[in-house]
Amino acid sequence: MSENKNNVLIIDDDVNLMNAMGLVLKKYNINLITYSEPLTALQELRNNPDNFDVLVVNYILSSVKGDEIVKLIRQFNKDIYIILMSSHKELAPSIDIMRSLDIQAFFEKGSNFDDFILLIESGFKHVTQIRNIQQMSNIIDRFGLEFATAVVNTIGARDKYTGDHSIRVSAYATLLAQELKLNEEEVKLVSLAANFHDLGKVGISDSILLKEGKLTEEEYTTIKLHPVIAENILATCVTFKDVLPIIRHHHERIDGKGYPDGLTGETIPYFARLLSVCDTFDAITSRRVYREQATIEEALKEINRVKGTQLDSALVEVFTNMVNSKISKIEKIIKL
Ligand SMILES: [Fe+2]
Ligand SMILES: [Fe+2]
Repeated sequence: MSENKNNVLIIDDDVNLMNAMGLVLKKYNINLITYSEPLTALQELRNNPDNFDVLVVNYILSSVKGDEIVKLIRQFNKDIYIILMSSHKELAPSIDIMRSLDIQAFFEKGSNFDDFILLIESGFKHVTQIRNIQQMSNIIDRFGLEFATAVVNTIGARDKYTGDHSIRVSAYATLLAQELKLNEEEVKLVSLAANFHDLGKVGISDSILLKEGKLTEEEYTTIKLHPVIAENILATCVTFKDVLPIIRHHHERIDGKGYPDGLTGETIPYFARLLSVCDTFDAITSRRVYREQATIEEALKEINRVKGTQLDSALVEVFTNMVNSKISKIEKIIKL
């Protein structure tokens, strides 16, 4: 098989015709690899997904219909460009079936062979473009994440408490998300949001951010801007699109007395309510110059006291049970 990417896997019973087609395609630098047995072809695609960018399937095979084969292939390969082939156009499956299986093209056997070559070449181009877009998007995502981590480290350097607090809140939020059986993507999202939730504090002056005594009314109003400042900082990164509402609303309260929007109950995004429970627990259990560090028991008592007014009741209950059942893990996080 050729090292370059111009390999086409074709599934058809008519091996003689395929061999003849293969000879013609060779002149166009296209390698046709023919399988008459659909299941063997399926195995080859499963074992060597990178060897083929284009698949051609005869719709009417002796053992099975081509769209059934495509259905099986789409379960493990969403990227390959698929051309369905048939000797009669009227025998082709409906456009709805073609769409649902992501079959990109149809070729009628016996029609202009140049059209077949063009279809295969556009398949190669399509897959290359998709691959380039994916690579670009991975680079952008990685860059966005690295850049934001650098910004969060900047807060840590300026205000050690907020840096350490973000790490602990992210650890609690990850545990809670797992406890709630959220899927892997959601756990990642919650953990990311928790890491950056107080990022907006970079926009607050040292005299307020690092003040050890009680804040004045005016200073408190300034501090309350931090969720919106964080949202504005991250708004330019596509990677953080889903994180933004979680960060913006992490100081909302169930009774509507929170900020910045005074949202109530379930109108507060679920992940923001989840983050809020972890944020509050950490604020109570951490040591501050002006306040004694509360014990786990005292912190649980406090978050249960404010459930239904400040915090989401159901989430406080799950969090409380989780803390009680994973006490040694929680003690380790408190020390971070
Ligand atoms: Fe905050
Ligand atoms: Fe916080």
